Amino acid sequence: MTAKELRRAYIDFFKAHGHAEIKSAPLVPENDPTVLFTTAGMHPLVPFLLGEKHPAGTRLVDCQKCVRTGDIDEVGDTVHLTFFEMLGNWSLGDYFKEEAIAMSFEFLTRGLGIPVGRLWITCFAGDADAPRDEEASEAWRRQGIPVDRIVFLGKEHNWWGPAGETGPCGPDTEMYIELDQPDCGPDCGLTCGCGKYVEIWNDVFMQYNRTADGRFEPLAQRNVDTGMGVERVAAILQGRKSCYETELFAGLLARLAALSGVDQPGATRSGRIVVEHLRASTFMIADGVLPDNVDRGYVLRRLIRRAIREARRMEVSDEFTASLAAVVVDEYGDVYPELEQHRAVILEALTTEERQFAATLERGTREFNKLIDSFPDHVRDKVISGRKAFYLYETFGFPLELTTEMAAERGFKVDEDGFRNAFRKHQELSRAGAARKFKGGLADHTDRTAALHTATHLLHAALRRVLGRHVQQAGSNITAERLRFDFTHPEKLSREEIARVEAIVNEAIGRNLPIECVEVPLDKAKEMGAVGLFEGRYGNMVKVYRMGDVSMEICGGPHAARTGGLGRFRIVKEQSSSRGVRRIKAVLE
Ligand code: ALA
Repeated sequence: MTAKELRRAYIDFFKAHGHAEIKSAPLVPENDPTVLFTTAGMHPLVPFLLGEKHPAGTRLVDCQKCVRTGDIDEVGDTVHLTFFEMLGNWSLGDYFKEEAIAMSFEFLTRGLGIPVGRLWITCFAGDADAPRDEEASEAWRRQGIPVDRIVFLGKEHNWWGPAGETGPCGPDTEMYIELDQPDCGPDCGLTCGCGKYVEIWNDVFMQYNRTADGRFEPLAQRNVDTGMGVERVAAILQGRKSCYETELFAGLLARLAALSGVDQPGATRSGRIVVEHLRASTFMIADGVLPDNVDRGYVLRRLIRRAIREARRMEVSDEFTASLAAVVVDEYGDVYPELEQHRAVILEALTTEERQFAATLERGTREFNKLIDSFPDHVRDKVISGRKAFYLYETFGFPLELTTEMAAERGFKVDEDGFRNAFRKHQELSRAGAARKFKGGLADHTDRTAALHTATHLLHAALRRVLGRHVQQAGSNITAERLRFDFTHPEKLSREEIARVEAIVNEAIGRNLPIECVEVPLDKAKEMGAVGLFEGRYGNMVKVYRMGDVSMEICGGPHAARTGGLGRFRIVKEQSSSRGVRRIKAVLE
């Protein structure tokens, strides 16, 4: 079965079971500043898992584009991908475990023709947050899975979500296929990772909401969220060892073979990196990401530059990125029309980045060689300092991993912690610079601005208290006269809600709460339950502002010292900003 047939079979199967097909959401999450990319099919559906009505109904199916960046360094082996497609079906407060499992079983065995004897199942073993999932296990047994093929595992294996810090999550049941190959040893099993057992599908029973303080509250509605990776399952159905041996990569690898003269690029680490990263890059650019030094753009730049370096190792000398991207557009354009629509932008962005990187690489490599040559021969502990690595980054755009790789080739190490420290210092300086500029423009109004900024935090906290924890900042803008705050919420606020929000803010002002600021590592901030945009994600330390028990938020300032004396807070306008995002304008009088 080809990937195309697999997508079709999946979607048709669930349509026949009453599901509405929805379009893949973009890779760049809409209105969710806490994450860089869409990482799972459920991600764009979070508001609906939390109870909002989906216009297409309570049963949905789709094939969602996903990017996961946690494993970039692993790409090059035969299993890790940064970009992949996830088939999924959802019940939004509709069916639950019994029916979900019955459909999964039917699709695996009848839809895909996998023999029951090859299937293994895992279920959640239970802990203080949720009980052992006997219900799921029983449902599998009713389908005919023998009891000794159902394994109970803990949270690290059989719990999924939330996708960000907070949100819907729950126990899951995972489906594995046993491949025809010998055990890797006495401990060979579902979780040993040797490749004999491959996870092919995951049914998550989303019935909890993880709160900012780490509790698991039952959700108002019980949902099902499932995910099946297209690349992995296509490879298995075709009896291939890896997705690079399927038709999904055949065109790309053929083009790369022609460009490099390497016969079987899919059999090499470099070849796999080139095609994987450029496939991902093509999809990212189609969804509006462009190479940059921060956030998404930085991930994209890193992928493109890594692909270029690997292609050079394969002795591809000409510009080549656009030629490979064109293959992706040709091959995926019918499923994802945005590729065809943005073909010109994609090819141009890649070529521009390629040229820029070539020039940078040349200058930086000269500088790097000078640096290496400056070490006297007798030095044994060959370490490039963090400061120097940062200089290469800042001046020549050498990402840390590039410097580390080039250093390793010459027998050197890089002080990576030192690099991160230098990076952080630099970020703080540029933030301070930006703040100065900001102040400069509003020279007479800085106290006013700080007061409005402080009120924005109180407003954010009040909205979350009145409307719910799904409220997240989607934008903020302050002038000397007013604050403007955009936030995720599906509907117009009622008069009562507005009045309650105003009352909470004014009460906090009236209590004259002290405003404390601590600087802590990002992880700690999350642990403390601070809300925030988690911006500056490459610097590790963040500032958390706490206003008594009312608000705790990651932010850069500027702020008043106490909440008293801000004035009287009044919402002057509440309107729609974009789909699912409301906008409030408010003043301090
Ligand atoms: N959201 C679940 C996953 O990504 C289905 O595995």
